[in-house]
Amino acid sequence: MEGFPKGFRWGVTTASYQIEGGAKDGGRGETVWDRFSHIPGNVLHDDNGDIACDSYHHLEEDLDLLKELGVTSYRFSVAWSRIFPKGYGEANEEGVAYYDRLVDGLLERKIEPFLTLYHWDLPQALQDEGGWMNRKTAEHFEMYCSYLFRHFKGRVTHYMTLNEPWVVAFPGHYTGEMAPGIRDFSAALQAAHVLLLGHGLAIKAFREGGYPGEIGITLNLCPKEPLTDSREDCEAAIRHDGYANRWFLDPLFRGHYPEDMWRFYEEQGLSMPEVTEEDGRLVSQPVDFLGINYYNIDFTKEDKSVWPIQFKTGFSAGNAMTHYQMPITPDGLRKILVRVHKDYHPAKIYITENGASYQEHPDRNGEILDEARIDYLHTHLWKVGEAIGEGVPVAGYFVWTFLDDFEWNTGFENQFGLVYVDRKTMERTPKKSFSWYREVAASNGKRLWEK
Ligand code: FCB
Repeated sequence: MEGFPKGFRWGVTTASYQIEGGAKDGGRGETVWDRFSHIPGNVLHDDNGDIACDSYHHLEEDLDLLKELGVTSYRFSVAWSRIFPKGYGEANEEGVAYYDRLVDGLLERKIEPFLTLYHWDLPQALQDEGGWMNRKTAEHFEMYCSYLFRHFKGRVTHYMTLNEPWVVAFPGHYTGEMAPGIRDFSAALQAAHVLLLGHGLAIKAFREGGYPGEIGITLNLCPKEPLTDSREDCEAAIRHDGYANRWFLDPLFRGHYPEDMWRFYEEQGLSMPEVTEEDGRLVSQPVDFLGINYYNIDFTKEDKSVWPIQFKTGFSAGNAMTHYQMPITPDGLRKILVRVHKDYHPAKIYITENGASYQEHPDRNGEILDEARIDYLHTHLWKVGEAIGEGVPVAGYFVWTFLDDFEWNTGFENQFGLVYVDRKTMERTPKKSFSWYREVAASNGKRLWEK
C-alpha cells in the first residue's frame, strides 16, 4: 500500500443530541428526540439524552481531549433548537454562544470544524406543523442554515447539510423505531423528498452567499447482498439497494428517483410524493463532497410478509457481530467506495462515520483494552487504503465516535467511543483505541502497516 494522500483528514464524529445533554439549558427548545425518548418503550431501558455525556457543561475538557487525540478535524452537529428554539424566528444568543465557544476552541487548537447542520434533532415545534412531511420545513431549514453560514463565515469551512436522511425518513416515518415515531410508508417517502429539498435549498444558499469552503451531504451506505443465491434473494437485495441507497444517491447525483423503485412503490398502491422537474434540479446541484457513513454489509432475504418492501435484513451470514449486532465486513467499505465512485463520481469522498460498539468497562487497573475496536478500525482503514489505491478520491476518515454516547433507540447500551464515559460521574477515560488512533493519525496512516 502506498499510504494515505498528503493532507488526508483524520477525525472523529459526534452528534448534538447524543452527547450534549443540557436539554433545558441555554434556552434550547424541545426536539423530536426529547419527545420520543420520553415515551416509555421507545428507547431501550427508557434511556434519554437529557444529560447524555453532558458535553454542554464539559466543553473545555472535551476540546482538550480532542487536542490530545491529535485529530486534524472534528465533525459535530448543531442542535437547530439551540439556535432557533421553535425552528424559526429570533436566534437564541445563548445557543449561538455555545457553538461559538466550540468552534473557536477547535480553531485555537488547530482542529478543523466539520459542521453537520442536521443530525436528527428537529425542533418539536416544527414537528407539530408536520415536520419533514411539510415542504415548509425545507424552507425553515434553509433559513437556519443561512444563519449559520453567515455567522460562521470564514471560521467554519466544511459543512454537511444532512446526516443520513434515510434514517430520518424510514425508521422515523415507516417503522417508527426512531423519532418522530410515525408508521406510514407514504409519509416516509414524502419526508425523504422534503429532506432532499431542504438539502438542495441549503446548497443553493451556500453558493449564492459565496461563502468560502465546501459543502456536501452524508449518507449511510451499505452494500446489500443476497443472503443466498436464490433468485428471490438476489431481487430482494436489488430492491433493498433501491430502498436505502439509490433512493438518495440517484436524486442527488442524477436528479430523479430510481425508476424501478418508483414503479414498485406505485404497484404497491402507495401514494407518491409530488415531485417537479425544478425539485430534481434543486436536489442535484453539485456538492463538493459526499460523506459516507459505513458500518456493515446488509444481507437480505426475500420475505413477502413485510409490506411494502418484501424483505428482511440483519443476518450475520456467518460473520462475527459487534454488540449492536452488526456483522463485521470490512471489505464492504471498499466495495461501496468503488461502486459509488464508478456509478456517481462524487468529486471527493469523506468517510464521515465508521466504528464498532462493544460493552466495555475499566479493568482492575482502570484501563479499557478495547482490542476488538482496534481490530475493527484497523481492518476498515486498511480497506480505505485499498480503495484509494483503486482510484477512489477519499480525502478523510472520521471514527464514530469520540465519546461513549446516547445511541438513539438503543440508549446507552452500545458503546462506540474511543473514550469511556462514566455515566454517574461523567469522568472521561480514554481507551486503548484512543492511543492507537492517535498514532495512526500522527503517522498519516503508516502505523497501520508498521506493526
Ligand atoms: C449512525 C448515526 C450515528 C450513530 C451511528 C452508530 O447511523 O449517524 O449518529 O448513532 O449510526
